[in-house]
Amino acid sequence: MTRIAEHDSAWTSRAIKILDADAQRSGESHLIPMQLPGFPEIDFYFKDESCHPTGSLKHRLARSLILYGLCNGVIGPDTPLVEASSGSTAVSEAYYARLLGLKFYAVLPRTTSCTKIAAIEQYGGRCVFVDEPSAIYDEARNLAVREGGHYLDQFTFAERATDWRGNNNIAESIFKQMAMERHPIPRWVVMSPGTGGTSATIGRYILYKSFETELCVPDPEYSAFYEGWCEKDIAYRCQRGSRIEGIGRPRMEASFVPNVVDAMLKVPDTASIAATRVLSHHLSHRVGGSTGTNFIGLLWAAAEMQQRGETGSIVTLICDSGERYAQTYFSDEWLTQNSLDIAPDIARVEDVIATGTFNTDLLIAGQRRERV
Ligand SMILES: Cc1ncc(COP(=O)(O)O)c(C=O)c1O
Repeated sequence: MTRIAEHDSAWTSRAIKILDADAQRSGESHLIPMQLPGFPEIDFYFKDESCHPTGSLKHRLARSLILYGLCNGVIGPDTPLVEASSGSTAVSEAYYARLLGLKFYAVLPRTTSCTKIAAIEQYGGRCVFVDEPSAIYDEARNLAVREGGHYLDQFTFAERATDWRGNNNIAESIFKQMAMERHPIPRWVVMSPGTGGTSATIGRYILYKSFETELCVPDPEYSAFYEGWCEKDIAYRCQRGSRIEGIGRPRMEASFVPNVVDAMLKVPDTASIAATRVLSHHLSHRVGGSTGTNFIGLLWAAAEMQQRGETGSIVTLICDSGERYAQTYFSDEWLTQNSLDIAPDIARVEDVIATGTFNTDLLIAGQRRERV
């Protein structure tokens, strides 16, 4: 249970001003255009969320979750903040906790990349590790009780802490940035799920604005979202932890909103990592593993369009930078240690880019729900 913070409205309004001033100093993330030779009639765009001050799309969520706690009166001047995270959210929350002078604890799987751990500690956060990835939730909740703190609980609150109707959320930002393009309303937006909060925000915004855009959500190999969505089973569980950091969860998280999703894919880890490497090469800078999963989804959506003779645009996200994964997805030694042979999938991804024909060996499964 979250302790009710002593209500200190003067401190709360100072804290909100600090967060607003920080947002004022920051710019909007870039929307990077790209053409791929196999898809001459399709324009591709990558929203580069790695350029936020804390390096990922989670910069937006951390701000929203803390503002939500402040405006609910559950975060006061002496409230330690606690989060369960695979790393990126905790980095961003540690940054904001330091801005507000609050203690911050991150509960992380032991496999979290050392770069993220170093970033959390650099912002003054403390890391608590668990061996079993699904143990992060209970550990974080218990730690918040022991410390008299507030459990931010991104997996439950991501979808409601973000203002889905606009207020410069990521969806509104994408559609604004597309306004002067050849195909301003994307045919597809592609986003992989961690909390599911970003796909929920995008999917709701599409419905709210009555856009014809479809939302594709590619899930990594070890995750519950794909089967839970296909089988409409919110209790579905996946026993093994995801190897693609930031996405793939052992359970259908409460922040994942299944009914706004038009297509889901289940992407093997070799394909996600191969796509990470290929896209990094095309962009001339390294992107993270979840961006590789997004790239597989983008190629699938493009091939669907091409097959139906459609022209238009597709948008996806660069969720974070690959510099965080130099010791994992970009290390051949790590791949060997984890028995991951990505060479065949690299060739397949390059072939899809060149020919415009999707290779189904890049997927474990996929399902599309036609809109009526
Ligand atoms: C690197 C990375 N990519 C993608 C995601 C997924 O975003 P969301 O939690 O909004 O589903 C996360 C979430 O933590 C992440 O850290």
